[in-house]
Amino acid sequence: MRRSNKEWGMALSRVMFFFFVTLAAVTAVGGSVLWWQVGVSMRQEAASSPGPGIIAGTPAIGGPFTLIDHTGREVNEATFRGKYLLIVFGFTQCPDVCPLALARFAQVLELLGPDAAQVQPLMISVDPERDTPEVLEGFVTAFHPRLIGLTGSLEQVKAAAAAYRVYFDKAGTGSAGGYAVNHSTFEYFMGPDGRNRYVFTVDAEPERMAEAIRTVIRQ
Ligand code: NI
Repeated sequence: MRRSNKEWGMALSRVMFFFFVTLAAVTAVGGSVLWWQVGVSMRQEAASSPGPGIIAGTPAIGGPFTLIDHTGREVNEATFRGKYLLIVFGFTQCPDVCPLALARFAQVLELLGPDAAQVQPLMISVDPERDTPEVLEGFVTAFHPRLIGLTGSLEQVKAAAAAYRVYFDKAGTGSAGGYAVNHSTFEYFMGPDGRNRYVFTVDAEPERMAEAIRTVIRQ
C-alpha cells in the first residue's frame, strides 16, 4: 500500500518533533552540567584568593640584601631567616600611603595574636638620604614596638628594591628644599625560606591579610 503525500508529511513531522525534543533535552542536560562545572571552578577560584588585594606569591620577588637597621646594626636576608617577613618599602616623610601601610601592619600583628611572634615586620626606606637609623627608629616604633626600620647607602637600598621589584624615584625639589619620593606601594609576605608567599595591595583588608598569613603559618 502506498502512503499518500499527507501521510508522509505527518510521519516526517513526527520524526522532526522527536528529533527536536531530544535535541532540547540533550542541550538542557549538557548546559546544566557545563553551568555547574563553571560554578564549581568559580567557587574554587574564589577559595584560592583569600580576599581583594591579596595576590599569590611569585618566585620573582625577594633576594639578598644588605642594609642597616634602626639601631645601626648591619643586617642581611640571613639575619631574618626562620621568620616570616612582612615587608613594605617607604619613607618617613611620606604623607599618607606609608603611614597607612604601617598602621595596617600593626593591625595585622594585633589580629594574629600569638602567631605574630613568627612574623617580623620590616619597613625598608627608599629615602636613605633623610631616613637615618635615628629618624627611622622614632618613626617605626610609633607604629609598633616590633617594627624594624631598614636603611643604608643609596646603592644598598637600590639593590634591595631591585630584589623586590620595587620602583622608587625622588620627585622634584619643592621651594622649601623638600622633596617627595614616588614609590610602589606593594607589601610582601615572605616565608622563612625567603620565598614570597603573598603580595598585598593597599586594598587588602587587615582581617583578610591576618587570615591568609595565619593559614600559611599553620600549614
Ligand atoms: Ni609612601
